[in-house]
Amino acid sequence: MNSKDSESQAAPEGFTADLAESITGVGLVWAQTTAGVIGKDGDMPWHLPEDLKHFTKLTAGHPVIMGRKTWLSFPAKYRPLPGRTNIVITRQENWGSTPEAEGAVVVKSLDDALLESQFVPGGSTVWILGGGEIFAQSVDIADVAVVTFIDSEADGDTYAPELGYEWENSANEPPKGWLTSANGTRYRFTVWRRKGA
Ligand SMILES: NC(=O)c1ccc[n+]([C@@H]2O[C@H](COP(=O)([O-])OP(=O)(O)OC[C@H]3O[C@@H](n4cnc5c(N)ncnc54)[C@H](OP(=O)(O)O)[C@@H]3O)[C@@H](O)[C@H]2O)c1
Repeated sequence: MNSKDSESQAAPEGFTADLAESITGVGLVWAQTTAGVIGKDGDMPWHLPEDLKHFTKLTAGHPVIMGRKTWLSFPAKYRPLPGRTNIVITRQENWGSTPEAEGAVVVKSLDDALLESQFVPGGSTVWILGGGEIFAQSVDIADVAVVTFIDSEADGDTYAPELGYEWENSANEPPKGWLTSANGTRYRFTVWRRKGA
């Protein structure tokens, strides 16, 4: 296969399903530009339907944890994310009783979120969805990180956490090069595991 072929192939259907099967514990999942941007102005500075499909398949049936700002980054009609207990973290005392919080399980800390996740369907695997603040606080306790790299130079104001020496790359799809979205954006899925996990 030449490099052009490897850039135009679609992700094999089984990759995400097999990956989802293989993961238990605390997972982080995000998409970033090659420079580490994950967000801008409360949204993501790209549109990549293939990654949304991957994200949905990966997290289906498991609790998801996110910061209030990430929750609000989803259009109201798409929240809560269906088929998953949506646990939202805020320091605000009364936010949980506002209309914005409808459909969320609202907690006051990451520890409370992780505890809550153990008592809901699919809690043997819990996915932390971000955003930047929550990733920064959870990277030290996560077992796995599933990261979509997007070949984009988009500017942003929110960044991915750094995966230090204690992490190792365990899989890439495709193994080399990029996939190409129907909209022309190049991307690849990567999997990182805590060494020894
Ligand atoms: N590319 C991706 O995969 C991806 C994924 C997720 C999000 N994003 C992007 O990231 C951006 C949002 O990220 P962000 O860093 O601004 O916000 P965030 O992490 O989603 O949420 C931050 C909020 O969470 C609450 N919070 C944080 N730490 C807390 C703690 N220790 N205890 C209690 N509450 C806590 C606070 O809510 P209160 O202010 O209510 O107290 C804080 O304002 C958006 O642009 C979004 O689109 C991108």
